[in-house]
Amino acid sequence: MKDDVIVLAIESSCDETSVAIVKNGVEDLATTIFSQIDIHKVFGGVVPEIASRNHEQNITIVLEETLNKAGLSMNDIDAIAVTYGPGLIGSLLVGLMAAKALSISSNKPLIPVHHIAGHIYANNLESPLKFPLIALVVSGGHTELVLMKEDYSFEKIGGTLDDAVGEAYDKVARIIDVGYPGGPVLDKLAQKGEDTYDLPKPLDDKTDDFSFSGIKSAVINLVHNEKQRGNEIRKEDLACSFQNRVVEILTKKTIRAMEKLEIKNLILAGGVAANSSLRRRLEEECEKKEFNLTIPSLKYCTDNATMIGAAGYYSYLLGNRLDGKIVAKSVEELKNH
Ligand code: KG4
Ligand code: ZN
Repeated sequence: MKDDVIVLAIESSCDETSVAIVKNGVEDLATTIFSQIDIHKVFGGVVPEIASRNHEQNITIVLEETLNKAGLSMNDIDAIAVTYGPGLIGSLLVGLMAAKALSISSNKPLIPVHHIAGHIYANNLESPLKFPLIALVVSGGHTELVLMKEDYSFEKIGGTLDDAVGEAYDKVARIIDVGYPGGPVLDKLAQKGEDTYDLPKPLDDKTDDFSFSGIKSAVINLVHNEKQRGNEIRKEDLACSFQNRVVEILTKKTIRAMEKLEIKNLILAGGVAANSSLRRRLEEECEKKEFNLTIPSLKYCTDNATMIGAAGYYSYLLGNRLDGKIVAKSVEELKNH
């Protein structure tokens, strides 16, 4: 009997067309990511209609390239995992339709994967998850603290009341006109700057929730006032002040939630997990408190199909088979399936 499970995964929820082949939820046999960032950059953000068209043009090429790189054919694949939501509906539909077509033509089961479950399981590609754990999920669309007591069980303990942290990064970058996506640009600028601007701490209270629209408005007001006074904005210093405030609150609330729930394992997930300051601060605090911290390697932080293949493996083991009945969902809570 064949023990290994080989999952072919497809991710197309936003502006990355990606296919990966993952063995047993831990081993990346081949991954291809076609990023559309350069196409959307000129518009200052992702244009949904253009994103769907590019997914449509590239999905078959990315699929063939991935199978070639792994030296495998569809006969070697045990299941097909696909992101069904949340994300841009037109983008999701391209990946989902491709996955349905593959599933029917090759007669392999189709496994639905929630995009955030994928981000969480990116950590499994570093080392198998240890439970119970808390996941700090920080991306362009999400900012959540999730408790997991076992594989594929997700309990949200806190989240943003308004903007996601990645969204706040992208908006602040747009306000000071430094390019898209804002996260990596501000992160680099921040490393060259000093914390000299007086920005508010975002929702520094006793809850496990977050809020980033206030600090974004504070940046808008500050830039406006400085312009009216004829002062130049020191972009490096503003990036540093913004990043320090955001990272401080993310770190503080995550560590406090872990102490409150007596959890010793922490994982970081989502595109903002690539942030140098957040990675460093969490490492420092976890070392002090003797918590185990896992952070995905940089290539698995932003959107990729490898993480969908890792999550899809556990969903497959749990027997989740929706096959032709899966529908794309632009908005969807993280669920235990
Ligand atoms: O997970 P992801 O690729 O897409 C979503 O699921 O949203 O995350 C993209 C987000 C963007 O908002 C981007 O600005 C942010 O992650 N990001 C960063 C960094 N790298 C990417 N934010 C802060 N620092 C970074 N180094
Ligand atoms: Zn993502």
